[in-house]
Amino acid sequence: MKIDILTLFPNMFNGSFEESIIKRAQENKKVEINLINFRDYTTDPHNKVDDTPYGGGAGMVLMCQPIFDCIKTIKTEESKIILLTPDGIPYKQKMAYDLSEEKHLIIICGHYEGFDDRIRSICDLEISIGDYVLTGGEIPAMVLVDSIVRLIPGVINERSHIDDSFKDNYLLDYPSYTKPRVFEGMEVPEILLSGDHKKIAEYRYTESLKRTKERRPDLIDKK
Ligand code: ADE
Repeated sequence: MKIDILTLFPNMFNGSFEESIIKRAQENKKVEINLINFRDYTTDPHNKVDDTPYGGGAGMVLMCQPIFDCIKTIKTEESKIILLTPDGIPYKQKMAYDLSEEKHLIIICGHYEGFDDRIRSICDLEISIGDYVLTGGEIPAMVLVDSIVRLIPGVINERSHIDDSFKDNYLLDYPSYTKPRVFEGMEVPEILLSGDHKKIAEYRYTESLKRTKERRPDLIDKK
């Protein structure tokens, strides 16, 4: 998979793709990630990428021209263009699965007060990572890349995401424990030491259900 991220602040990504699983995925050629500063595409003599809003109001608005020209250069028939914006569709694990099957993602990070609404016309999908407003789309882009790349076959052990919370979109993960068996008086549930895999699977399912009912009853209602 190839992922192109259009941003005015490529340095914000320093480090985030250079560690751990995402680093390894790039080294193993499972994914190619490119940071593209769309300021490089402006035709403005002063390198401007934004301007004041028509109709007045606070702040600056990202202009169409640099983003349109950048997209025209990098887009192919296989590209899926995603715009990150707080008014997009709420991001869910199911979307991460669907996007992990794409060949080429182009992710546009908005910034400042907003962007010219005509930019939406060249996008296939608008995504929000939650009901809060960030200073721009860079952190949401990191969230998307991380959640998608780990699902590309061969990036992590398949088993690790089979049990993920939200996999079936309705159950939170069950509790996990490791050594020692007793820590500061807190014991590992006996059943996990029994070696009875059927009983362990039942216990984990029950705990998942219990945790979901307590913490996210909305997920069960949806189901
Ligand atoms: N840009 C600013 N806030 C955002 C959010 N919550 N999701 C996606 N893009 C954003």
